[in-house]
Amino acid sequence: MTNPHTGSTTQAGIPAVSDRNSLSVGANGPIVLHDHHLVETLQHFNRMNVPERRPHAKGAGAFGEFEVTEDVSAYTKAAVFQPGAKTRVLQRFSTVAGELGSPDTWRDVRGFAIKFYTEEGNFDLVGNNTPVFFLRDPMKFPHFIRSQKRLPDSGLRDATMQWDFWTQNPESAHQVTYVMGDRGLPTSWRHMNGYGSHTYMWVNAQGEKFWVAYHFISQQGVENFTADEADKLAGLDAEHHRRDLFDNIAEGNFPKWDLYVQVVPYAEAKDYRFNIFDLTKTISKKDYPRIKVGTLTLNENPTNFFAQIEQAAFSPANMVPGMGMSPDKMLLGRNFAYADAQRYRIGTNFQQLPVNKPINEVKSYNFEGNMTYDHRGAAPVYAPNSFGESWSDETGAIETSWETDGDLVRSAYTLHAEDDDFGQAGTLYREVFTDEGRARFIDTLTGQGEAIENDVVLENFFQYWTAVDVDLGAALRERVNAEADAA
Ligand code: HEM
Repeated sequence: MTNPHTGSTTQAGIPAVSDRNSLSVGANGPIVLHDHHLVETLQHFNRMNVPERRPHAKGAGAFGEFEVTEDVSAYTKAAVFQPGAKTRVLQRFSTVAGELGSPDTWRDVRGFAIKFYTEEGNFDLVGNNTPVFFLRDPMKFPHFIRSQKRLPDSGLRDATMQWDFWTQNPESAHQVTYVMGDRGLPTSWRHMNGYGSHTYMWVNAQGEKFWVAYHFISQQGVENFTADEADKLAGLDAEHHRRDLFDNIAEGNFPKWDLYVQVVPYAEAKDYRFNIFDLTKTISKKDYPRIKVGTLTLNENPTNFFAQIEQAAFSPANMVPGMGMSPDKMLLGRNFAYADAQRYRIGTNFQQLPVNKPINEVKSYNFEGNMTYDHRGAAPVYAPNSFGESWSDETGAIETSWETDGDLVRSAYTLHAEDDDFGQAGTLYREVFTDEGRARFIDTLTGQGEAIENDVVLENFFQYWTAVDVDLGAALRERVNAEADAA
């Protein structure tokens, strides 16, 4: 057949003779090893995958813009947050526990990760659709993720394992209340809020420090599925959320979120009634109301999912001048974890890929390694040097520092006046959930309790919810036992 196009090439750019027929000895004879194009095609196919993200494997994303509409320069000098600044962003949404092929409507926390391509380097805010998390010590994170994934023998997900982990780690109660409530089943990624979850540091031009919590409030509103709707969709369309985002952006219906921050003056954290560095706690909006910063708009779909979304690499360690870490142990643990995972998942030079590359010049003394693309020619490879290649040399206390306690210990955080594991979870259940939401929450938990196949874990489940709310615990005990008797 005559090829109407100009033809394809091999990966070396040589004309490929046929993408349809292998070279064979006669029409019915064996194929031959020197059919380079066939060999290359089969070899490359074997290498098409990279490992999926260990948590947050299932997701998708889009590009857009963040525009600062207010003036928060009193709190941060970061260029990305100065009045009127507009910054290109990449955002990826995800579920936590499910694998790459899992339904994106499964009940779970949703990832809300944003890469701001700023003139001062990439700033990544890697948050979730909930303002808290299950844990407050990074040592527990791998155990947590393993408990939410699959059993070693059957390869099945397992309610007994999940609840065993959660009830053995009661600090999870606040986040579990969120996930088992309506917000565990958003109707789309457009219809959920996003949170930085941790308390971060901001520093202004005068060197004053503040603690901040990021809240992205959806202009589309918050909408959630019922459990039945989400279950049905999980079977009918495993990519419901991915499709919704892509189709809406393609149709010009660009989703938007307003960014607010809660700002806590540096010195006030110490004696605040909650430990604001404990990731299982929120900062009360009554004490520290939200201050608007600007608006995030997603307006451009990826043109290649693998190159731009699967290979995208977000890391909480990526912060720009004017912001910093905090004593939150989870945040400090995450500081290490992400780029390490990405060096394994994508490759040593993952930051040279277009989607991860900063828009400003990179002048790093980290060189070479697998798949080096960018290089600095014959410039000196060490610092300091006498040949005009610049290096950095700040000394003394860093701008984003904080005081520490002293001796190295292994210990839980010191409790603040109102810190406990269950208080804020109880408030969420009693004061934030609607009557209907509470009824759905009890239905969901009844189903969860029924799926627990171990008496000790089930008793722990009842006690866990009794600690959140006595009536809730009693209602669950009654309903789960009644269902078991009926069965
Ligand atoms: C010590 C605690 C944690 C550790 C060690 C950890 C580790 C990781 C790792 C290794 C990845 C995969 C990165 C990749 O392969 O590109 C990941 C993804 C992610 N994590 Fe965490 N994580 C922790 C806690 C959290 C918390 C508290 C949040 C939210 C507040 C969070 C949000 C995310 C999100 C949104 C992604 C997906 C990013 C993307 O879309 O590529 N993680 N995490």
